[in-house]
Amino acid sequence: MTHKIIFAPLHGVTIRVFRDAYFSCFGGFDEVVAPFIAAVRDAHEVRDNHYKDILPVPKTGPTLVPQIMGNEPQSLASTALAIGSMGYREVNWNLGCPYPMVARKKRGAGLLQHPDMIARGLDALCDAHARGGPAVSVKLRLGMVDAAEFDSVLPVLNGHPLASVTLHPRLGSQMYDGQPMLDEFERVAPLIKASLSYNGDIRTLADFERLQQRFPYLSSWMLGRGAIMDPFLAARIKGLTLPEDKRPLLRHFHETLYDGYEAYLHGPKHLLDKMKEVWAYLAYSFPEPQRVIRELYKVKSPREYRVAVAGILAKP
Ligand SMILES: Cc1cc2nc3c(=O)[nH]c(=O)nc-3n(C[C@H](O)[C@H](O)[C@H](O)COP(=O)(O)O)c2cc1C
Repeated sequence: MTHKIIFAPLHGVTIRVFRDAYFSCFGGFDEVVAPFIAAVRDAHEVRDNHYKDILPVPKTGPTLVPQIMGNEPQSLASTALAIGSMGYREVNWNLGCPYPMVARKKRGAGLLQHPDMIARGLDALCDAHARGGPAVSVKLRLGMVDAAEFDSVLPVLNGHPLASVTLHPRLGSQMYDGQPMLDEFERVAPLIKASLSYNGDIRTLADFERLQQRFPYLSSWMLGRGAIMDPFLAARIKGLTLPEDKRPLLRHFHETLYDGYEAYLHGPKHLLDKMKEVWAYLAYSFPEPQRVIRELYKVKSPREYRVAVAGILAKP
């Protein structure tokens, strides 16, 4: 079976500068979902700055699917249509963000307890699609506090012509911790009519193989944190040839990312904070990741940072 591999959205992390650097170095991905942007009323009229993460449409690399967050049907439809007019063929609706500030406002995973609101949102998005807007996909969790919530969401999903559904089998209340609920995934997967992708805690080839054996009917997989911890993970899954010495590519990725952020961000503090955020994952590509993280987290200037990174990237 040929597997479709999708890069997950990580808000604040997998932004345009990151994606450009990453995909110029690492392969194996078919698609990448951009971190969410807010759905807005009169989306054609807001400043381009609102869409800066997804403009211009990338000409190379995996297909980019913009993601929107919101709960108001008119804003969802308006933003989807604006995204469609930029040239995107699909828009993804975020029904999984667990942060209390988001969920409390009945957005992201907060909507999972309100299937009626999901239905109205999907009506508006699918109607926009029928009028020439982009196809609609959703990314969601099993529920906000209880996996039984999914049973009320399921008929709503199945009642709409969705391009795909990506299910991260955790609850909103779990945030990103605890085990993915694989038994629940197994229970609901065959009931979902749209093409289904699995997402959650795929960090090694062995993790992927275990999940693939358990869900042999799946052919689409989304990798998030694991793809930054090991940027060669998608290529490993696809069986692509990997370089014997991975350091030159890791070094090139790091340089490209650093230069990109230096040009994009204002001041050394922002630059170092952003790089440290990436290293919280990338450290796992090196021996003794905790030591790498400790070492980098204490640097205070770009000069100290460069010295520390040179040491890390030089080691076999
Ligand atoms: C820092 C961070 C930011 C995230 N931002 C988004 C987002 O913008 N949209 C979204 O659908 N999921 C978001 N997620 C969830 C991931 O896309 C993914 O579902 C989750 O990390 C589980 O997959 P993984 O174990 O492969 O990372 C975020 C996760 C993290 C850790």
